[in-house]
Amino acid sequence: MCGIVGYIGNKNSVPIIIEGLKRLEYRGYDSAGVGILEDKGAEVYKREGKVSELESEIASLNLDSKIGIGHTRWATHGVPNTVNAHPHFNNDKTLLVIHNGIIENYSVLKKSLKAEGYEFVSDTDTEVLVNLIDTFLKKGKCLLESVRLALAKVDGTYGIAAIYKEEPDKIVVARKGSPLVIGVGDNENLIASDVNALIAHTNRVVYLEDNEIAEIYQDKFSVKTLLDEELKKSIEEVDGTIEELTKGGYPHFMLKEIMEQPESIRNSMRGRVVLKEGSVKLGGLHGYEERLANSKRIIICACGTSWHAGLVAEYMIEQYAGIPVEVEYASEFRYRNPILSNEDTVIFISQSGETADTLAALKEAKRKGALCVGIVNVVGSTIARESHTGVYIHAGPEIGVASTKAFTSQLIVLSLITLLLARKKNMSFVEGKEIAEAILELPDKVQEILNQNDMIELVAEKFVKANNFLYLGRGYQFPVALEGALKLKEISYIHAEGYPAAEMKHGPIALIDEKMPVVFIAPSDSVYEKVISNIEEVKARGGRILAIANDDNGKIDELVEHTIKIPSTLPMLMPVLSVIPLQLLAYHIAVKKGLNVDQPRNLAKSVTVE
Ligand code: AGP
Repeated sequence: MCGIVGYIGNKNSVPIIIEGLKRLEYRGYDSAGVGILEDKGAEVYKREGKVSELESEIASLNLDSKIGIGHTRWATHGVPNTVNAHPHFNNDKTLLVIHNGIIENYSVLKKSLKAEGYEFVSDTDTEVLVNLIDTFLKKGKCLLESVRLALAKVDGTYGIAAIYKEEPDKIVVARKGSPLVIGVGDNENLIASDVNALIAHTNRVVYLEDNEIAEIYQDKFSVKTLLDEELKKSIEEVDGTIEELTKGGYPHFMLKEIMEQPESIRNSMRGRVVLKEGSVKLGGLHGYEERLANSKRIIICACGTSWHAGLVAEYMIEQYAGIPVEVEYASEFRYRNPILSNEDTVIFISQSGETADTLAALKEAKRKGALCVGIVNVVGSTIARESHTGVYIHAGPEIGVASTKAFTSQLIVLSLITLLLARKKNMSFVEGKEIAEAILELPDKVQEILNQNDMIELVAEKFVKANNFLYLGRGYQFPVALEGALKLKEISYIHAEGYPAAEMKHGPIALIDEKMPVVFIAPSDSVYEKVISNIEEVKARGGRILAIANDDNGKIDELVEHTIKIPSTLPMLMPVLSVIPLQLLAYHIAVKKGLNVDQPRNLAKSVTVE
């Protein structure tokens, strides 16, 4: 959730850290801070608000230090204010620590530190950790050893970085449950919670695993386990360019990412569709295809938008591959006692690959012997590395907090997996080829919908004052209704609910009046006529109706206030198209309300705490 950046080398660390924090701000953005070591000692500059506000505040100070750490925060313990912002000092103001994660036993530790005479100025668990480390420094231990011994007393999750006035040639980092990566440069090294913060400086990285601790110097680094065993880590090269991390002329990342979808879904399918075999080739699943196809049951685990993609996959896989599928919220799955065996496959879907609940569910499924398949966007992320096998969605960096292009790329990869499984079962070549062709046609069809952006903006204008929305769809469109409602809620703060259209009459119909816009996702599929009946029911009660329908569909226009027309495709692929107008609708409504669509209040891009 929060972002960590650190630098040690010949350059001034401060602008490098500020720039890195800006690239990580999508992870958390309620406050930010920088800590450096200067000749006079350790110094901290922090404030509530965005990184740019911190940057303006310190601009005139001309700070210059060759070693520093910085943090952008998403509050867990303590309100978002300057005092609670990181880095945090020990009582002596010699040691600085930044921390992502949650120290679960912080109140017990705080009590005993208070009994030893330590005083606390913030409400954070991090200030407890920094003073706990201090107790070992006071016993004459070095920084690395003090951090290691302190972490042995801690329950919970952390990605931390520490710098210490008495050892100004190093940054010490450690990880358990919260990502940390070392960027290996030329006579300089960096650390960050996300490769995005490093890519401007180096593409050579070392991923820290859970329970590992590292000492980072200007020209070398070493890693050991928290049990003090030396480790030899390999340096990996990551793809990615700095251009991918900028807005490219768009006012917001979210709009850029919506508009990128023809290309991002093309990248998700590139080299994977084998038309002449009516099938697909997924290198990531090599060696696991048979086990996957012979699974007695597939369980899909994810959160938020990724969970919605999982719901679409349930319909696809059951329809075409005939394997029973269950879709679970990762946060629920991990806290019950799921019945799993080695005949089950669990698919974990995650854009970030770092969502704490999904990761914990993965660990549980692995422990119980199920085959674990990751469908992840961020290359090298924890879920990608912990899964037995998996498929990257290759959507490129998604910075907007509201997930858009990752969703459509997840759907593409899930449709490819469906085709692979179905062809291994009893789908004919002819049917396989028909689906493969339909998948390849999607980027152009998505572009056709994006070309209607100006019209969708005008529609948004008409609904901007609504306080509530209902989104209704049936079959493959039910998960799209949920996703449309989530997009609107997240960025416009308008209350919105997604429902299966036919469920409306079992309760939500009571809400319908002339102030309630209802969005029907009604492409021409097997349930189209039934959805038309649901539209009539809303119309009869004075509801305002907006419909997403197919080009060939005239009848619906007479019933509704506005129709946004989308091209036709196979029902299993229709969610890739029908979600696009809903993304644009949510975006334009939020912009018209003057809201920050890329960084909506209270949210963080990757939820690395429980
Ligand atoms: C999507 O718009 C959300 N911000 C959120 O629901 C997100 O999909 C969820 O937190 C899961 O994230 P992940 O895909 O990175 O695991």
